[in-house]
Amino acid sequence: MMAAKTPARLVVAVTGASGSFYAYRTLQLLSPLEIEVHLVMSSAARRTLVTETDLRAEQLEEAADVVHSASDIGASIASGSFRTLGMMVVPCSIKTLSEIANGITGSLISRAADVVLKERRRLVLMVRETPLHAGHLRSMSSVTEMGGIICPPVPAMYARPRDITEIVDHSVSRALDLFGLDTGSLRRWGEDLDTLPSSRSRKPVGEQSPDGPPVRVPRDMPSTNLWEATYRQ
Ligand SMILES: Cc1cc2nc3c(=O)[nH]c(=O)nc-3n(C[C@H](O)[C@H](O)[C@H](O)COP(=O)(O)O)c2cc1C
Repeated sequence: MMAAKTPARLVVAVTGASGSFYAYRTLQLLSPLEIEVHLVMSSAARRTLVTETDLRAEQLEEAADVVHSASDIGASIASGSFRTLGMMVVPCSIKTLSEIANGITGSLISRAADVVLKERRRLVLMVRETPLHAGHLRSMSSVTEMGGIICPPVPAMYARPRDITEIVDHSVSRALDLFGLDTGSLRRWGEDLDTLPSSRSRKPVGEQSPDGPPVRVPRDMPSTNLWEATYRQ
């Protein structure tokens, strides 16, 4: 008997940490790829989404192939026999990080993450909190020891981002790289980004620091409110 071909699947979990827009862009960047996206949002994620953006949960759900309820602990992604590339939690709250670190599997999000770890698949947590106390760091260390990857959404300024979307897309694309998924929107150092200070035809503004090379200031950062430009387009 011929084995049925399993589509490449990725679980995307959204929790209530700040940074709902990272989740939205993750789903947008995944949608042109041939990936079956399984979305699960916590109730805190729904609240943070409306607090931080003008987006609605339905807009995230529409971009997914399958939407699961966070309380459905019997969903497909709760079982290791359901094959996936792995799971990305974006953004990942300290609460969810702590649950995963301690094997507490009371919701579909923490259960699916636990399954990904036990099946030795890829788990990427875009943990967002600052500053961090020792307990947070211990949880990150535990998850790392179990094979997960802590991948906080930290801006990469070397890419000279022009707006919030570019900042977010860079972090999301780097996280998706960890699954071998190329969004096509990542400007890579040494490839699309010159290692010399002439990338994107942006010249150093030429402000001289007293004892070093010129300080490079991105001069074409939009002068309009970045928040407005990003969320109200
Ligand atoms: C607007 C807003 C922003 C928040 N930002 C963070 C954050 O950056 N990191 C974090 O760990 N929790 C943050 N929280 C708290 C979490 O939402 C809360 O701990 C929640 O219980 C997480 O549940 P979940 O992991 O099931 O989504 C925020 C809450 C709100 C309302």
